[in-house]
Amino acid sequence: MRVEEGGRTGKTKSPGSPARTEPLPLEFPGAHWLDEEEVQAAARVLRARSPFRYYGPDMQDEVRSFEEEFARFVGARYALAVSSGTGALFTALSALEVGPGQEVIIPAYLWVSIASAVVCHGAIPVLADIDDTFCLDPADVERRITPRTRGIIMAHMSGAPGDVKAIQAIARRHGLFLLEDCAQCVGGSVDGQSVGTFGDVGIFSFQLNKNITAGEGGCLVTSDERLQERAVAWHDLGYCRDRAGRLLLEANGPHLWGRGYRMDELRAAVLRVQLRKLPLVTAAMRASKYRIRQALEALPGVGFRRILDPAGDTGAFLITVYPDAGRARAVQQALRAEGLVARPEGINNIVMADWGLHLYYNNLSLVEHAPLEPSGFPWSAPQNRGLARRYGKGACPRADDLFERSLLLAIPSCLRRKDEDEIIQAFERALARA
Ligand SMILES: Cc1ncc(COP(=O)(O)O)c(C=O)c1O
Repeated sequence: MRVEEGGRTGKTKSPGSPARTEPLPLEFPGAHWLDEEEVQAAARVLRARSPFRYYGPDMQDEVRSFEEEFARFVGARYALAVSSGTGALFTALSALEVGPGQEVIIPAYLWVSIASAVVCHGAIPVLADIDDTFCLDPADVERRITPRTRGIIMAHMSGAPGDVKAIQAIARRHGLFLLEDCAQCVGGSVDGQSVGTFGDVGIFSFQLNKNITAGEGGCLVTSDERLQERAVAWHDLGYCRDRAGRLLLEANGPHLWGRGYRMDELRAAVLRVQLRKLPLVTAAMRASKYRIRQALEALPGVGFRRILDPAGDTGAFLITVYPDAGRARAVQQALRAEGLVARPEGINNIVMADWGLHLYYNNLSLVEHAPLEPSGFPWSAPQNRGLARRYGKGACPRADDLFERSLLLAIPSCLRRKDEDEIIQAFERALARA
């Protein structure tokens, strides 16, 4: 069934009954595509009795192969697989030598791990506002730069890239590092260039909510040899290793501290299969999202997140924007009445103000300046004197406003045309009624 003029779908439910009668499929994009191939890949590792990446009785080299394949996929010189996206953030900041006396710019729309990684390195996070891309606003980033700024963490949120070329230009102009957090945008790109390759380092997550998954997992990419060497040491035991997995303790290699964030062979085997499926996963979400969005564009009273390059949008989320908070809430309630609800295990069709730790002001550890130890470090450290900011609501007014009047709809990677038709019909009715 094709979308007809004006966004009307060919077949619709009768006026009395809701557009949907069963919950939306769960959002977990990569998980819908897990099948016998991943089972066989994991079994191969177990049969070889070699689930550790650096040595074992019958090495399958799954982690190293995944790193080579992922680096090729994004177009970076190096990839380092780690145990989580949070682990990748910590490893990246350690490799970049972030520490006390430094400020790191972070976005108002984020995940708690970003602030955590900065604070746990003894540095001070500085919030910058978002714009209608729902990612960093380049103009606000420029305003927040001080002589203490060391770098910028840009997160490509909710499946689509932000204005990374503008942020890259700012970072270069001011001599700052740029770390791209691509946890929510695995497979995304801008003008054909993969996210994660515009800055010094890119990080990715393979946790269950992400575009490919092994339950947990992460990766760091860079084309800088020194950063890669430092990251390899930090993610493991503080030293590099030779191909046989032996630690290199020579004087000319890195002597650092290790965090123990290694990826294991089981998850790498699964991720290698998932990576081959990634273009199919994102193509499915993108097709569903843009079919729905095209239909909604014909309706009055609804706006959309600005997407810089639809071809590089992974399609995982549709964000609709309304004139005010009351109207957003009314449309969300009306959509619920039309059956746009998630199963209990998932989250879908929410006002973004209800999006928990993705909103800076819900991070109470940040708002309350939670210390790492009783001395009050890092907030109290002499090098950080006078650098701590206010992180409560009001620090980023544009984000506060957008969160209140925007709805987030996850686009599951397994939607059928019938599901898309019902979502479109639910919006048509909700917008007419709200
Ligand atoms: C933007 C962002 N950064 C980092 C992470 C952390 O990834 P992980 O859950 O794999 O630690 C997430 C996870 O949701 C995220 O959304």
